[in-house]
Amino acid sequence: EQFDVVIRNGTVATASDIMQCDVGIRDGKVAMLGRGLPAGKEEIDAAGKLVLPGGVDAHCHLDQPMEEGLKMADDFRSGTISAACGGTTTVIPFAAQAKGQSLRAAVEDYHRRAEGKAVIDYAFHMIVSDPSEKVLKEELPQLVREGYTSFKIYMTYDDLKLNDRQILDLLALARREGAMVMVHAENADCIGWLTEQLEEAGLTAPKYHATSRPMLVEREATHRAIALSELVDVPILIVHVSGKEAIEQIRWAHGHGLRIYAETCPQYLVLSEDNLDDGYHGAKCVCSPPPRDRANQQYVWDGLASGLFTVFSSDHAPFRYEDPQGKKPGGKEVPFRYIPNGTPGLETRMPILFSEGVGKGRIDLNRFVALTATDPAKMYGLYPRKGTIAIGSDADIAIWDPHKEVVVRNEMLHHDVDYTPYEGMHLTGWPVTTLSRGEVVWRDGNFDAAIGRGQFLPCGLPDPARPRKVIPA
Ligand code: URP
Ligand code: ZN
Ligand code: ZN
Ligand code: ZN
Repeated sequence: EQFDVVIRNGTVATASDIMQCDVGIRDGKVAMLGRGLPAGKEEIDAAGKLVLPGGVDAHCHLDQPMEEGLKMADDFRSGTISAACGGTTTVIPFAAQAKGQSLRAAVEDYHRRAEGKAVIDYAFHMIVSDPSEKVLKEELPQLVREGYTSFKIYMTYDDLKLNDRQILDLLALARREGAMVMVHAENADCIGWLTEQLEEAGLTAPKYHATSRPMLVEREATHRAIALSELVDVPILIVHVSGKEAIEQIRWAHGHGLRIYAETCPQYLVLSEDNLDDGYHGAKCVCSPPPRDRANQQYVWDGLASGLFTVFSSDHAPFRYEDPQGKKPGGKEVPFRYIPNGTPGLETRMPILFSEGVGKGRIDLNRFVALTATDPAKMYGLYPRKGTIAIGSDADIAIWDPHKEVVVRNEMLHHDVDYTPYEGMHLTGWPVTTLSRGEVVWRDGNFDAAIGRGQFLPCGLPDPARPRKVIPA
């Protein structure tokens, strides 16, 4: 039987292998790997190119309901288009529960936001901000069984933060149900106290956002999260790790045999606190934890190379700069505590890691694939449907020109944000073609696919979330 698509003459790389072979695609799945495959209805010549699994961006925020007056710039349409044009074929954004809201209602609302808009496949994490009796006893266990098998918890932000007792209850639930817990680790009271001190001294410019969240507040919360995970005996994943002090805690945990997974993001590799020090323009790089300094960037690179990090995500949190619902709330330059947190980066996530990591010899190609696609798919129960090029996997593939030189300009990106923190950056390597389930959606600088073709992915129970000890009956 004929193939629908054959990708010919490329170099195929997975998290473990590099193969000179063609890829035969049928019915949206990888059907055959080999040399000299018979003709496909569509032929793609990948000579001189890398044929890689499409990326899995396992931490991004799209059309997430915000507090009064703020709005995210990207919905499922613009966000998934932007992702696809940067080589990503699966996104996992967050269905966020507001305090007092039913968790199921939050998930159902988020489905309505995605429905008919996504152009690539998507799963949901949940954000649990209100672990009420009903959430713990009914809603969350049921939702895990329905394919929402990961949730994020916050140790900071007034509207989201949980206390240690609440965290323990949720970790115990995750252990029983087999879910993966993602932890935003920063000490809320330290940040609140420092913010007040800074405000009393009149220090409210965007750069003081970094002063208000020094590394020790991340270090302390990271250690506390590790201790809570150890107490309950359930693995957790620490998201958006920014530098040395948190990394040292994670390394300590690994030395003690604890299964603590870690994620980092492009902003901690190529941005620094200096990017916040540009008058009010610094608001563009206000995110939490804040970018640190060059020495810390090196620590993060070392962690990517050594295997300390399992997942590399964008943490795309899109707010326009010139926007009363974005970085200038109400149209004004506000004290840093009122600047919505986050940087955009869905489309630049993989090109930055490819250029600065693979291109500069800091990580190899297999590690790149593991960090951007395979391991996030495993971490959240989507493997092997997503995250690799193997017989039977979805044909989610990015064909990279490893020599393509790109100067990053916001105009060329497909998000709906009016800036990129990476403006002017010189990168080498970019995906020239992206296929989602065998369908070309991005080729030679053109995006072309039906809006709404993306499918919701129920997730399996993630293998990395399994506790070490046998769960007592
Ligand atoms: O500043 C950030 N990271 N904003 C996005 C929300 C989060 O905590 O990941
Ligand atoms: Zn976070
Ligand atoms: Zn400026
Ligand atoms: Zn985030």
